[in-house]
Amino acid sequence: MKERRKAEMINVDGATKVLGVIGNPVEHTKSPLIHNELAKRFGHNLVYVPFLVKEQIGDAIQGADALGIHGLNVTIPYKEDILSKAKEVDSLTAKIGAGNTLVRIEQGFKAYNTDIPGLLRAMKSDGVEIKGESVIIIGAGGAARAVALMVAMEEAKEIIICNRTMEKAENIAKEVNAYVNDKVAKACSYNNILNLEGSQYLAIQATSVGLSPDIDRSPIEDEAFFDKIHTAYDIIYNPDNTKFMQMATAKGKKSYNGLKMLLYQGIIAYELWNQVEITEEIANEIYGILKVSCE
Ligand code: ATR
Repeated sequence: MKERRKAEMINVDGATKVLGVIGNPVEHTKSPLIHNELAKRFGHNLVYVPFLVKEQIGDAIQGADALGIHGLNVTIPYKEDILSKAKEVDSLTAKIGAGNTLVRIEQGFKAYNTDIPGLLRAMKSDGVEIKGESVIIIGAGGAARAVALMVAMEEAKEIIICNRTMEKAENIAKEVNAYVNDKVAKACSYNNILNLEGSQYLAIQATSVGLSPDIDRSPIEDEAFFDKIHTAYDIIYNPDNTKFMQMATAKGKKSYNGLKMLLYQGIIAYELWNQVEITEEIANEIYGILKVSCE
């Protein structure tokens, strides 16, 4: 009954634009909620649906083009693949090496990364500054690398990349320093992180440690670490209060999860597809709906 009522709310006709998310799996995606709610508010005649793509990502993109799909989000495991499959790639996205959004151009699609601009907009909305800050990034995978580049572009004073595998952290630090032509970034092991001086670091958690169902773990389990930071920003949003965040809060530090990053990556994609500007007021409304959907 609930599902039927939902379907009745979308008034599909001959002019309805179709958008969606491609990935594997897609059944738990929150993106339809974000985009269909935005469409309702703007009165746009569009519908956003999940598409499970088991493996043929190239065929899926070609097919989407042939079908006149208006735009797509792309999720795991295809975020890297789409750069070679799209007709064009936005320059920041090429630098990051992964995209999550395909925007229709004259022939085919152009690939964008809205995850990283989304994180930046989320942090701004939470009042978390990057410029002039000393930042610790935890992790050295694809997400951490993109965060490190973003933080460098936003002119952090110092970037410390902390990872279990040191070599990966060192490679990212080198790449960031080459990119900004400065010695702003350095690698650090989990053991040495406790030797850092000061208590004014902004820590961004960019590993998958602590993600549901692994909710009792934090990449850094030593509570002394949390004396060194003023804010813990976790890119995980499930659970909504990760162990990493709880440990920061226990020390009286500010903590944020990744739900706003999820919100703003969607908002920026919607803006690219529909040439609109989404106000903070609308963003907050959608954020409220997203929060309820996570409960
Ligand atoms: P993504 O592209 O989502 O960032 P990834 O490239 O697989 O995913 O990176 C995962 C990150 O989580 C890495 O920093 C990884 O550390 P290693 O480089 O040492 O593998 C980190 N990670 C994953 N599981 C971990 C664990 N059990 N303990 C500590 N770090 C972990």
